[in-house]
Amino acid sequence: MIHAMTKLTPLHEDLTFHGPLSEERAARLIRSLGSLKDAHVVDVGCGWAELLLRILEADPSATGHGVDRDAEAIAHGRENARARGLADRVELEVADVAAWSGGPADVLIVNGASQVWGGAETEHTANALRAGRALLRPGGRLLLGEGFWEREPTDEQLAAMPIPRDQYRDLPGLVDLAMAHGYRLLSLSQASLDEWDEFESQHSLAWEHWLLANPDSPEADKIRAKADTFRGYRLRGWRGTLGMAYLTLVVSHT
Ligand SMILES: C[S@@+](CC[C@H](N)C(=O)[O-])C[C@H]1O[C@@H](n2cnc3c(N)ncnc32)[C@H](O)[C@@H]1O
Repeated sequence: MIHAMTKLTPLHEDLTFHGPLSEERAARLIRSLGSLKDAHVVDVGCGWAELLLRILEADPSATGHGVDRDAEAIAHGRENARARGLADRVELEVADVAAWSGGPADVLIVNGASQVWGGAETEHTANALRAGRALLRPGGRLLLGEGFWEREPTDEQLAAMPIPRDQYRDLPGLVDLAMAHGYRLLSLSQASLDEWDEFESQHSLAWEHWLLANPDSPEADKIRAKADTFRGYRLRGWRGTLGMAYLTLVVSHT
């Protein structure tokens, strides 16, 4: 447990998106959604809602609603919305998605956030697909950024990271699961190793900067241990093995 007085730089200062997502891919994902005219866009586990704000910037008739339980991230998203003239078209709400109900929506974003409904890790992806069916209007689109195994993790890799083997599928298995929940696939891509490395490096910067600035703090050992543990997960666990797929799905008529 890290002492509350140990104030790390918030992630949004080092990251554009809270995941392995480049500017270019974000723009492509937004285009993959097709027409956003008068669309209502819901983003669950939105963090500071950068992707949602960019979707609203892509069409001045679109409106948005983002939900995250991280009050600091939501406050930053609200500030950005005001600064970019989007505040009257977006509501950003601090809430636990597991106890939240909203909708209907024309677009649902679940980007790196299928865990927001809680429950067993093995059910997270299916929870997101079911929630999309419940929330989306006919013809609605789900933008799902979800993990998958790029290659089968070895026993050593599984032992080195806190991710159960059965939490994720291979890529065909992930797409099949979406089909089985009543969607058709409009677009598919995956984060590159470069996007992953950029994300993980920026994600760890706050710890490293804090350690440089506070070498004699009684909290330094705890922060260093946290950073080292995370680096172990990454380098001995998921790097090059865990992928991030971006699926643009549409609710199928049948
Ligand atoms: C990996 S981040 C992704 C953030 C955002 N979708 C993005 O791409 O930048 C996961 C987010 O889910 C949020 N989260 C996790 N569990 C949640 C819950 N039960 N209710 C609301 N938000 C939750 C976290 O606070 C975090 O902001």
